[in-house]
Amino acid sequence: MSTVVLPGSFDPFTLGHLDLTRRAAALGHHVIIAVSHNPSKKGMLDLEARKSAITQTLAQEQLSEQVEVRTLPKGLLVDFCREVGAGAVVRGLRSQLDLAYEEPMARMNQHLAGVDTVFLLTDSTLAHISSSLVREVHALGGDVSDMLPEPSLDALSAATAVS
Ligand code: PNS
Repeated sequence: MSTVVLPGSFDPFTLGHLDLTRRAAALGHHVIIAVSHNPSKKGMLDLEARKSAITQTLAQEQLSEQVEVRTLPKGLLVDFCREVGAGAVVRGLRSQLDLAYEEPMARMNQHLAGVDTVFLLTDSTLAHISSSLVREVHALGGDVSDMLPEPSLDALSAATAVS
């Protein structure tokens, strides 16, 4: 079983992320979900809330054996990949806009350390879901319950209640 890293902000972890995780694991990989910590990026959930929601979701989905959650340390993603023995990065592509954003990063990671990025096309029924739009819809009072696993929805509601 090879190890792959699925990095991201996951603010919050959506059903699109869950689908990606499930499919990466189904390919026979041990998946490390690496949650990035960027204090300058204005988000919604703090790092621990994001990690906890993902961990609970993995348990509910019976994915805990094959998938683990880690904090992505400051520094290069390829250094983290080397540290955990991962041969590749996995990212989802919803659209050509995603590809335009991902391509230079994938090429850079390949250049820096020979780490390839495996792209999985997002399920078409989930391709409109992004963490940023979920945050916006939720903040404006819209219903996001069919876009998130329950633990993410709970975390979002808890964060909104205190803010
Ligand atoms: O969910 P996001 O915010 O699109 O995830 C972005 C992430 C964490 C994948 C990206 O910021 C990243 O790879 N950060 C690590 C820093 C790095 O290695 N940069 C240089 C090579 S591209």
